[in-house]
Amino acid sequence: MLSTCLFPAAGYGTRFLPATKAIPKEMLPVLTKPLLQYGVEEALAAGFQNMAIVTGRGKRAIEDHFDVSYELEHQIKNTDKEYHLTEIREIMDKCNFIYTRQNEMKGLGHAILTGRPLVNQKAFAVLLADDLCAADEGVLSQMVKIYEKYNCSVVAIQEVEKSQVNRYGIIAGEKLDDQCYRVNNMIEKPSPEEAPSNLAIIGRYILTSDIFDLLADQKPGKNGEIQITDSLMKQAQQGKVIAYKFHGRRFDCGNLDGFMDASNFFYTQFKER
Ligand code: UTP
Repeated sequence: MLSTCLFPAAGYGTRFLPATKAIPKEMLPVLTKPLLQYGVEEALAAGFQNMAIVTGRGKRAIEDHFDVSYELEHQIKNTDKEYHLTEIREIMDKCNFIYTRQNEMKGLGHAILTGRPLVNQKAFAVLLADDLCAADEGVLSQMVKIYEKYNCSVVAIQEVEKSQVNRYGIIAGEKLDDQCYRVNNMIEKPSPEEAPSNLAIIGRYILTSDIFDLLADQKPGKNGEIQITDSLMKQAQQGKVIAYKFHGRRFDCGNLDGFMDASNFFYTQFKER
């Protein structure tokens, strides 16, 4: 049974400065909900109850968001405003929130390794909240089924423009069916010439826990950071990584265009309800 979802949320979010000077990027709202809450809801819907969040300096707002706010709750109790807190209260009832801090930003792989003490299962999920996904069946729920079928690490992929491959980890592999590839090559942020395909890894992973030993031995890669892609490549060399082309849409809320697209998409949905 998969029960822990790790949320690396320690990055600086420099593309959203000055908004992210005092507010974590993961707390930026799309409509009235912070990005991280969408991620937690997706994980909960996929059956995860332990939300393990890797934070950093200046990220206190994350812990406060998933905690009781006595004064505020007292003020709006039994008023017509109370329903605004229904969803977050349900989340707090159903999930355990556990935290650790990454005290040096050495990359996504390092953030995942920092979360190791929070994970004590055979496998766990990783969700990057700035990749906001909209799908009839949540992307993590889809991936849990793939994990149950293949019993190895699973990464979510989507096709991107060749000119954009240098923003992602890019995979190549043997096609198993319309949705799945068994990965045999993986390069972090390749140039369009180096890229083995246009299949890009997005911010959803299910990782078997042997990844931690690989990460602990991992030398810095692209941009001098500990890259999860480099450690995943070692699992892929043993045929133990499936890339899954998910159903649904993904918004890259780490940049302004993606963030605005997500806001417009969710606002249109909200108005149509
Ligand atoms: P990004 O590459 O988007 O980096 O990280 P960033 O620092 O958040 O944003 P920019 O580029 O400065 O605008 C992808 C995810 O990995 C986490 C981030 O919080 C984000 O969710 N991350 C990245 C860490 O937790 N630690 C790191 O050292 C790096």
